Amino acid sequence: MPIAAAMSAHAYDINRSYDWNYAHAPVRLPDVRMPACAGDWSFCGIPVASPLGIPAGPLLNSRWILYYAALGFDVLTYKTVRSSARASYSPPNLVPVRHASIAGEGSTVVMADSVAEESWAISFGMPSKDPDVWQEDVEAARRELPEGKVLVVSVVASPQDQWTLGRIAADFARCARLARDAGAHAIEANLSCPNVATQEGNLYASPEASREIAAAVRDAAPALPIVLKVGLFNDADHAEAVVRAVTGYADAISTTNTITAVVRRPDGTAIFDGQRRGIGGRVIGARCLAELVMLRDVIDRAGSNVRLVTVGGVSSAADVRERLAMGADHVQLATAAMLNPMVGIAIRKALSRSAAEHAGHATTRS
Ligand SMILES: Cc1cc2nc3c(=O)[nH]c(=O)nc-3n(C[C@H](O)[C@H](O)[C@H](O)COP(=O)(O)O)c2cc1C
Repeated sequence: MPIAAAMSAHAYDINRSYDWNYAHAPVRLPDVRMPACAGDWSFCGIPVASPLGIPAGPLLNSRWILYYAALGFDVLTYKTVRSSARASYSPPNLVPVRHASIAGEGSTVVMADSVAEESWAISFGMPSKDPDVWQEDVEAARRELPEGKVLVVSVVASPQDQWTLGRIAADFARCARLARDAGAHAIEANLSCPNVATQEGNLYASPEASREIAAAVRDAAPALPIVLKVGLFNDADHAEAVVRAVTGYADAISTTNTITAVVRRPDGTAIFDGQRRGIGGRVIGARCLAELVMLRDVIDRAGSNVRLVTVGGVSSAADVRERLAMGADHVQLATAAMLNPMVGIAIRKALSRSAAEHAGHATTRS
């Protein structure tokens, strides 16, 4: 299929609902020649062909997973699922925004834009199909995924007001068992969702909660790698307490799950009733890079063997190189891959070109 057709026919339609996009996943897989990515890559110890993956979010179901697996991504994360069905927030679910660079959590106000160029506010509320539905679909993804691709299933608990930490951890574990039984290669526990007001929103901030959940998920899926998805930390000491708490239970930490901001229209009126929403895309890139550098240092100082997955604002081969150079073990793209489904191919081309140039220089020198 020509590249242009692959791009235009299958991009997520931000003017439609989550349910519409779930039902209208790409049906035809692009037939693209895949540039090889020189180097030895792995995801939590599983060998893969590149350092590139898609985090929880863009891949609503198995059809979306197979589509992006055909577009140069080797680690595919199934959008966060729950132990019971949950509806999506009403549209808009993705609102394009304009801003220079978001420096951190706090009172940032970003301006809504009319076209999606590089960044947007994300507002789904972590919808989920019933476990019977998503388990069958995870099984289909696993069955149809080409050899060598890694299927991660992102899970979250659905706590009610009076739930104790033990009950929350047990709900995470239940989802992890269901995902394991359906064929997940790895489990990601989402400890951070900025767009929900209930307890599951910022569990990562507590070392105790992070450890208890990581231990429960590890217990539920002892043979699988466990990834913890986290938000921004206030400081390195706080991050170190969490890293130490989860070492021995988690295989990797995935940072960062968006940065929140209030979104306003150009006329000053608030969107989302003035509540903050997670922002994804280029505007959070610099801050997510700084978080990666901080966490790399914290993990090394703590002597922890936890690996680092970097996500947030990555959109080019230069970004990927930089994240790897700064200590990431694996790199994921959400917003950039939705806005341009061919970005994985472009990054692989650039990485293979620079590897060839590097080999050329080495030959000239020797
Ligand atoms: C459409 C969309 C849906 C998302 N849904 C989830 C989710 O269900 N669970 C989760 O952990 N993160 C979710 N995220 C956050 C992404 O995994 C990622 O952390 C964030 O978008 C920053 O990466 P980016 O700048 O490449 O978009 C979602 C992001 C997008 C764009």
